[in-house]
This record gives sequence, C-alpha cells and structure tokens, in this order.
Amino acid sequence: MHIGIFDSGFGGLTIFKSIRARLPQYDYIYLGDNARTPYGSRSFDAIFRFSKECIDELFQRGCKLVIIACNTASAKALRTIQQKVMPLEHPDRHVLGIIRPSAEALADYPRSRSVALWATEGTVKSMSFPMELAKLAPGLALIQKACPLLVPMVEAGELDGPGIDYYLAKYWRETLAMGGDGIGALLLACTHYPLLLPKIRAIVPANVDILIQGDIVAPSLADYLARHPEIERTLTRTGSQRFLTTDQTEGFDRLSEVFLGHPVISEKVAI
Ligand code: DGL
Repeated sequence: MHIGIFDSGFGGLTIFKSIRARLPQYDYIYLGDNARTPYGSRSFDAIFRFSKECIDELFQRGCKLVIIACNTASAKALRTIQQKVMPLEHPDRHVLGIIRPSAEALADYPRSRSVALWATEGTVKSMSFPMELAKLAPGLALIQKACPLLVPMVEAGELDGPGIDYYLAKYWRETLAMGGDGIGALLLACTHYPLLLPKIRAIVPANVDILIQGDIVAPSLADYLARHPEIERTLTRTGSQRFLTTDQTEGFDRLSEVFLGHPVISEKVAI
C-alpha cells in the first residue's frame, strides 16, 4: 500500500519534498486539488467536502495512510474526518495532519518569549494552532498573522522583486505590532511560504528562528511509522511517486517544478 499526500494544490509539494528525502523507500501518491485551490479563505463546509473527496480518492487508489499536507485543510477538516468519517467509512486506514507536529515544535520554546506564525486566513481563524498550543504549552504566547497575499504571489511566480519585499516587510511589522519584540520563533504555517525563505530570512532578525514545516513533518512521520509497525508493515517499498491533479496537467507540471525542484508528469483525476 502507498502513502498519500493531499493538498489544495501545489503547496503540499514542499512538505512532500522533505518526506521523500527522509523516507525515500516508500511509494507515494500526491493529489493536488488545483481545480478548487486556494482553500485559504473557504468555509469549513467546503473544505471538509473537498478534502473528504480527495482523501477518499487516495484510499481508493490504495493508500493506507494519507497526510493532509495543507494547513488550511488540516485546520478545518482533519478533526471531522478523523472523528466522523474514518471509523465508519475507512476503519483500516489513517489520516494525519500537519498542525499537531508543527504546534509541538513551537511548544518547545521557552515561555519567557512569544512565538509567531504566518498562515492563511482560514488557518488563523480556525484557531487550531492556539487550541493545540494551549494543551501542549499552556502560557506560551502565540501571535498569529494571516498573510493572504503571499499564496497568490508565489503561484504567480513572484518569488523575488520589490512587490514581495514590500508585503513581507509589512507582514513582519504587523506581527511585531501584535506582540512586541520578544518573538523567539516564526513558524511558516502555510505550504507556500518556504519558497520565500531567503526573502523572509532577510527581513526577520537573526535572533528569531524560522521554522519550516517540511523539517518538522518528515521526522514526525518517520517517528509515527516507527511507533506503528502494524501500519508500516503494509507499505510497499519501491520508491515510486505518482502525481495527481484535479485540474489541467500542463499547469501542474510547470509549477510543480518550482515547488519540488524538478519536473514531474502528472495525471488528471476527475473528482
Ligand atoms: N496549502 C494551503 C495551506 O497550507 C495554502 C494554499 C491554499 O490556500 O489553498 O494553508
């Protein structure tokens, strides 16, 4: 059986890249819901419905385990899928999100400073990160800043230049205004933001750690599989990867090179 990686579009490729580097032996199917991306400002209902359809597709294609490699979908759909869908419809399969391991990484920071995250409106408004952190690290102050213009800019190829510099500086100023200057770490809690890392690093002071989710999720998945041999044993190991998109394959193949670092040949799925 395979490991499925689901995202609203291209962004999850930044997570997949780290997972594949850490666990190259397994077989992967990546599904990007490009026809309905972005999820960032959509309702709970829509994100739940879209995510369920995509995850069902990955299960039908032989995935034992699906990683929701999208913060917005993890924030708004994972809990309902885990609690209401899985026990009834897929009792022998598993779904994991990326919020919990990311919150665990933030929870390691000392309470004497605050931590911050940048994410989509949907992730921020869901309050998923504050709820996880309240359980993991009570008393740790979290600043959440929605950065709605970064996803469209990255998808338009605006990784460089004065436009992106302007918005990154503005978002950082607004982050500081929300929490003073005691910030110890900034989590990039949106799949697209790691592509802006050199630019973000240039704006955010060196005494603030910048956390990338691929670096967090890949070891967390390796640890999960080590703790669940009954799941790990069912996974095939030929090192294959397949890329599915709900939209035109040409667009996926072109942009996925930006996110993954090499060309891919994708297949269109009807969902
Ligand atoms: N993948 C989404 C996330 O990590 C960003 C793109 C979108 O809004 O669909 O939140």
